[in-house]
Amino acid sequence: MTADYKVQGDIAVITLNNPPVNGLGFATRLAIANGLEQANSDPSVKAIVITGAGKAFSGGADIKEFGSPKAMQEPNLLSVILALENSAKPVVAAVHSVCMGGGLELALGCHYRIAAPGCLVALPEVKLGLIPGAGGTQRLPRVLGVEAALNMIVSGEPVKSEMLAMLPGQKLFDKMAASVDTLAQEALDLAHSMVDVRPLPLVRNLPCKHPLGDAYFQFARNMVKGMSKNYPAPLKCLEAVEAATKQKFDAGMTTEREIFINLMWTPESKALRHIFVADRAASKIPDVPSDTPQRPIASVAVIGAGTMGGGISMNFLNAGIPVKMLEMKQDALDRGVATIRKNYEAQVKKGKLKQDKYEQRMSLLSTTLSYDDLKEADLVIEAVFEEIGVKQAVFKELDRVMKPGAILASNTSTLDVDKIASFTQRPQDVVGMHFFSPANVMKLLEVVRGAKTAKDVLATVMAVAKKIKKTAVVSGVCDGFIGNRMIEQYGRQGGFLLDEGCTPAQVDKAMEKFGMAMGPFRMGDLAGNDIGWAIRKRRYSEKPDMKYSKTADLLCEKGRFGQKTGAGWYDYVAGKRDAIPNAEVVKMIEDHRAALGIKPRKISDEEIVQRLVFALVNEAAHILEEGIASKASDIDMVYIMGYGFPVYRGGPMNYADQVGLFNVVQAMNRFAQNPLDDAKFWQPAPLLARLVAEGKTFN
Ligand code: NAI
Repeated sequence: MTADYKVQGDIAVITLNNPPVNGLGFATRLAIANGLEQANSDPSVKAIVITGAGKAFSGGADIKEFGSPKAMQEPNLLSVILALENSAKPVVAAVHSVCMGGGLELALGCHYRIAAPGCLVALPEVKLGLIPGAGGTQRLPRVLGVEAALNMIVSGEPVKSEMLAMLPGQKLFDKMAASVDTLAQEALDLAHSMVDVRPLPLVRNLPCKHPLGDAYFQFARNMVKGMSKNYPAPLKCLEAVEAATKQKFDAGMTTEREIFINLMWTPESKALRHIFVADRAASKIPDVPSDTPQRPIASVAVIGAGTMGGGISMNFLNAGIPVKMLEMKQDALDRGVATIRKNYEAQVKKGKLKQDKYEQRMSLLSTTLSYDDLKEADLVIEAVFEEIGVKQAVFKELDRVMKPGAILASNTSTLDVDKIASFTQRPQDVVGMHFFSPANVMKLLEVVRGAKTAKDVLATVMAVAKKIKKTAVVSGVCDGFIGNRMIEQYGRQGGFLLDEGCTPAQVDKAMEKFGMAMGPFRMGDLAGNDIGWAIRKRRYSEKPDMKYSKTADLLCEKGRFGQKTGAGWYDYVAGKRDAIPNAEVVKMIEDHRAALGIKPRKISDEEIVQRLVFALVNEAAHILEEGIASKASDIDMVYIMGYGFPVYRGGPMNYADQVGLFNVVQAMNRFAQNPLDDAKFWQPAPLLARLVAEGKTFN
């Protein structure tokens, strides 16, 4: 049972009780339907109140049932709402805290509604690429008016109950309770007062019109179209609400249903639902149970006040956690603090941060030149130069001074975390925390699990990540971890494309059309082409038989490192980020091509996209097979949160699943035939080959 039933005097109270948010899964729906039946057949009951236990009225659909046939198993939500409408005794919905999606649709099926102040009301289905599917698009405009309802449905954003109660003429709430505490009693009182009122009011019987009719919808359509670009759902929300104004109620319900079901099958909705689940799954580590004890983290130390150290510190200051930064020299500390100040001041100027909040954050920051000042910190994050010798010196010091049980983290992006752990006597306390630049902005955190990293260290770091609002994904130890190991293959394909006939702008345009925030060459210019150059130089000696295009090296030899030098694959004007194609770079690529004796060919956008994306996918399949990532959806999160992969494609693995892994491998086999490409790389990873043979997908 996931709803409780009890009779108080002559009122039956049905309390949804399915923690955490009273999701409307099958068992809960059944319990509501049973409660209704029991109340209607009990002659001593005169009216019914439906409310929610714990911290919500209802958050809507049960995510465990998402997209599964269970969601439609009878009684489905539509049937429960129908039963509410058909109840011979008045039903009052008493909503508090959270009333969203199916929860709001349920309340709209009741005869009366009373809300506690502060209740977040929303129809967020659009965020999953859907429209509300249980009458939300037909009933909400009838109680709030077309415009207010459309705004809520198209945006999916929550609005506080007291704001909605102030809308002129609104019929969503018959009453506002004085507070959450009085809601139960006030709901009983409301139910009492309605015991003899007939006929019972139904939202479906209310009129639904916009005074401007078609003109309004035309205007709204233009607005929504402009905002929703790659997503079909927002316009479909509008279509459904428009139907509410033009069709009889039941016909409107049919329209809503049809639109809902069609959207369920769109790649965009599949991608958004995939990410919704992937995001929640990312924090779960297969062999680290959710009740693993955590170490308290009340203060943090950061070693190195450079680009990353400063950004990392800001995350903790923002979360109200004191930070002590250590450097070797005072001027480096001063520079680091000044940069943090500058960042905050820019936020204050833009009105994104209040002056007192800024001061409060800065007051949590302190600095030192001495390791002995760090010994009380619960977590220390190292962000010094990327040289193993420097890391060794730092971790030896940390091992000497840090209190027992402190977590020792490294922000290294390329070095071996196990090796770093071996510099200490406490490898179980060492972990990688790989932030992305700018560290105060980018959402992704790769948590690098060393061979000896303790489970409670992992559990703690995952919880810390949440506190500082990062999406954390666990990666095993390997060169480049998940994200950068994959991007290397993507970049290599970019180089081959230049050799074969593309310009950087052509490749970037194709990838941006696909939906990447930035094409590979613009990304290189942003990150600094010298970083890739340094890695390649290492590769040339480590893996002499690995094939590379030499164009990127030629570019770096000219000192064109990217935005920071004002020139990379493109030119840049100081203070602006616009990438301006440069004729010399194009000439350099052409000359190199000619020197290799390659006759350029015209390469389609489709080939560009497939070669770059499938390069990610094949490398990712190796990463999965090796256990570096524990699930494919983690890889999708890395690419969406850290590399600008289009959300509506759900990440590279989800995209490959949707293209069909058979088709992916077919394409890879074709690429392997190209003598200018790397046939060895295009050998499908064993996992990928196995999935194709078994007709399976990554997710
Ligand atoms: P940076 O050069 O901007 O900053 C490094 C800072 O560490 C400098 O201020 C330096 O004075 C200080 N430092 C050097 N040796 C030290 C020592 N022994 N004790 C105390 N302080 C010392 O470098 P950045 O970019 O911040 O990188 C730091 C680390 O973060 C590196 O391991 C890098 O691989 C990693 N990383 C960098 C990313 C980036 O995009 N820049 C992204 C992710 C990780």
